[in-house]
Amino acid sequence: MHIHPHMKMSDLVKADFELLAVLQRLKIPFGFKDKSIQTVCREEGIDLNFFLNLAKWFHERDFFPGETLMNHPVKWLVKYLRSTHSCYIDYQIPRIESEIIQIENTDQASSKNMQLMLKFFREYISEFTAHIQLEEEKIFPYILELEENLEKEKPDPEFLGKARGYTIRDFLDEHSDIEEKLTDLRNILLKYLDPPSNNCMFTNILIEIFRLGKDLNDHTILEENVLIPQVIKLEEQFHQKFPEG
Ligand SMILES: [Fe+2]
Ligand SMILES: [Fe+2]
Repeated sequence: MHIHPHMKMSDLVKADFELLAVLQRLKIPFGFKDKSIQTVCREEGIDLNFFLNLAKWFHERDFFPGETLMNHPVKWLVKYLRSTHSCYIDYQIPRIESEIIQIENTDQASSKNMQLMLKFFREYISEFTAHIQLEEEKIFPYILELEENLEKEKPDPEFLGKARGYTIRDFLDEHSDIEEKLTDLRNILLKYLDPPSNNCMFTNILIEIFRLGKDLNDHTILEENVLIPQVIKLEEQFHQKFPEG
């Protein structure tokens, strides 16, 4: 499928329903009638190229528009990533958690294997939440302030102090791999435990965990290959514009 501005938004979603996630994260309301991608984007105040780049990447997979995405204001990507965070925290994680609790209430729950799985998942949730909290409370506000201050004649003194002693490169170093734990969990489930394969609920959790892992992988690609390199460039511009001393 060739995604282009004059294509109907409904045709795009019909052809690849996974793109609904992109629409949701950009807060594009459904109910497109016969409107084209271009019209929907205009009405929702979303840059057409930003949308097309994300949609093409999600759909085609073999091309990553990293450089192109970097040319858009960083706040757009931050908004998108924040929406993704809320999806995880408000919906996907609690949902998987409640399914695990449901399994806990079944006969098979007393097995050591199930207990182990639950323990792992709980650890994962707490690491995951801490990771997102750091980004939401520290990293994203810094990025938004950086972009804002770069536009100013004179930066806020408070931000200037912060910018002098910090670089996003530090964050990249510690951008812990939250996928690793999920991979461990998946391995335990598939390779070492003796899961009840006749249990629909169990299989369903497995599918959801795989799906979350795949989505998280995309999220990390956007953070590490678009957001952070873009912020490094902004930092360079900032230090050039407001040199020390
Ligand atoms: Fe994130
Ligand atoms: Fe992250």
